Amino acid sequence: MDNNTVSNKLKEPDQFQQESDIMSNDGLKVISRDQLSLVYDTLNPKERPITFWDKYSKFGYFMSYNIESPIISFSSKSLVIAINQDQVCKISFSDNPEKEISNHKIASTRSNLFPEFIGQVDFNNGWKGIVMERIRIYNQLNFSAGELHKMKLDFVNQIDDLHNNGIIHNDLGFAKNSDVRINIIISEKKIRLIDCEKVIIKSNNNDCSKEQDDERNNIHEFIGELGGYGFCYLT
Ligand SMILES: Nc1ncnc2c1ncn2[C@@H]1O[C@H](COP(=O)(O)OP(=O)(O)O)[C@@H](O)[C@H]1O
Ligand SMILES: [Mg+2]
Repeated sequence: MDNNTVSNKLKEPDQFQQESDIMSNDGLKVISRDQLSLVYDTLNPKERPITFWDKYSKFGYFMSYNIESPIISFSSKSLVIAINQDQVCKISFSDNPEKEISNHKIASTRSNLFPEFIGQVDFNNGWKGIVMERIRIYNQLNFSAGELHKMKLDFVNQIDDLHNNGIIHNDLGFAKNSDVRINIIISEKKIRLIDCEKVIIKSNNNDCSKEQDDERNNIHEFIGELGGYGFCYLT
């Protein structure tokens, strides 16, 4: 296949070809097999779809999930691919992917709350990817109340440091129609942040006190939500 001919536009849902394409999890866009092949050929992920298209399991039933093995997440906003156990690549479909790349570079050098920035990938069709540390996502039930308590304290302190270092994450509310703060991750030993799309890098001439206050409120609410009622029997 000539990678140069691969479109950089995602298809619309009415162009979905079930035999080869994948629908985004919000149902708004479709990625073609050519586009997926370009991504896999460029990134060479450790896991490839088991078959050309692994929606069919070997047990013969049709899996309705619009997902295949290297894909961690595909929405109309972004595609996140597992390159291996330690790294992922995020391709943003926003109008300004460079902004997110530069935000991520700066934010991750100032705070290790963010995934380590490993590099940038330029795909032949113009897409840009951020290769970054893969963060393992844990369930809070994996931790004792004491462990969680320490993680919460460290997190609040690191958020203060983040703000003092001139960075506001700026997207720590609930995901649309959900009660999950999707960009705050409970990881192996600490709480982490992902998704630098809306990050604000403070400068002298922008007043971000409102965004910073909002962020502090989000964090305090999150701390209350995490490990609340019911945790007394876990210690
Ligand atoms: N560094 C990472 N490690 C592991 N999973 C990640 C990482 N970054 C993103 N993801 C997964 O991909 C999803 C979408 O990533 P995100 O950066 O939030 O994209 P979007 O801008 O589309 O919201 C996340 O909800 C998470 O499940
Ligand atoms: Mg997100």
